[in-house]
Amino acid sequence: MTHGPRPLTGTLLVLLSSSLLAEPATNAVPPWQEPTDEAVRAGRHVYERQCLVCHGRWGDGRGELAPEMYPRPRRLTSGIFKYRSTPSGFLPTLGDLQRTIRNGIAGTSMPAFSSLSHREILSVTAYLQTLSSRWRRPIHHSTAVPLPDPPPWMEDHDARLPHEQNGARLFAQLCAPCHGYDASGTGAASLNLIDVWDQPSRPPDLREPVYRSGPTPNDLYRTLTTGLDGTPMASFAETTSEEERWDLVAWIRSLAASSRDPAIDFSEDRSPRPATDAVPEPPPPTTPDGTQRGHPSIPYKPTPTSSPTVPGPR
Ligand code: HEC
Ligand code: HEC
Repeated sequence: MTHGPRPLTGTLLVLLSSSLLAEPATNAVPPWQEPTDEAVRAGRHVYERQCLVCHGRWGDGRGELAPEMYPRPRRLTSGIFKYRSTPSGFLPTLGDLQRTIRNGIAGTSMPAFSSLSHREILSVTAYLQTLSSRWRRPIHHSTAVPLPDPPPWMEDHDARLPHEQNGARLFAQLCAPCHGYDASGTGAASLNLIDVWDQPSRPPDLREPVYRSGPTPNDLYRTLTTGLDGTPMASFAETTSEEERWDLVAWIRSLAASSRDPAIDFSEDRSPRPATDAVPEPPPPTTPDGTQRGHPSIPYKPTPTSSPTVPGPR
């Protein structure tokens, strides 16, 4: 052996060992900390005053107001959550829960609790973790998946066009069976979908810029990447590339943008929609109780959630 290769091997070893060391640090899930008794007690107090009426005394989703709602209040004892930054199948991060509670879920009865203090939100989050035994098992925990910033072309009209077109193509292929080619939520499979809580799960009308999981491109990208657990809306992390998901986001936003005509009053029925003039409108699907989707009979009308119902154009 000459002396030649040695420094190189040394460098490689250093690189290798540093990447091995770095690996567990980035993937490690911080051990779950059982919430303190004090936090749980305080959280229960918040829960009983603010949440019980919908989510039920035991967190089983059977509160007094629940039966009339679509979607139903979450059965918090199931330990399954839709709006997460973690991979499909995992519990949400505590940040995800806090975001849901603070911002509410647009277009549903889940109100935004912007009036609760940060401390109250932390404590009610602690209480939620006592409602399902899933929280105690480390295998159900994960860190958030990497959620990159939107590509620079997203806010540039001309540069975005080819991406929207590719998004439309992907949508027809991957999403139309449920969402419909026109994204109105009336795909062939749409009427027969149910969620793990035995409730009908309807694909939303994506032409309306009211997204439950949040209005920004990052929110849509997160939904496509992590899926909405418990519902037929699966994660597309394995079946699409990062770029393809941004193309889909661009296309969904273009639909919403074309329904965002200033001449149209958003508090009223929005049809006819300029984007879909070419596509004949099928009759809106009805829920089993006969109410129109998107216009459920909800007895409790919370003040509009703080997540804006109309994402601001930029
Ligand atoms: C007026 C009824 C109502 C009240 C009050 C209410 N919720 Fe909800 N909540 C809902 C509904 C409906 C959903 C289901 C929304 C969906 O499936 O998109 C929900 C969903 C949730 C979810 C599930 C989010 C996910 O990722 O799946 C959490 C967590 C939650 N609520 C926490 C709370 C907490 C904490 C409070 C009290 C501070 C509260 N809710 C009060 C109606 C309510
Ligand atoms: C198997 C049926 C199915 C397929 C395939 C499917 N979805 Fe969905 N999607 C749903 C359902 C059902 C919901 C509503 C889930 C719920 O909250 O109950 C949904 C919700 C969504 C939402 C959430 C909107 C919000 O309010 O935040 C987006 C965005 C979305 N889908 C986009 C897509 C895209 C893009 C594709 C294709 C890459 C796709 N979906 C494929 C059934 C499907």
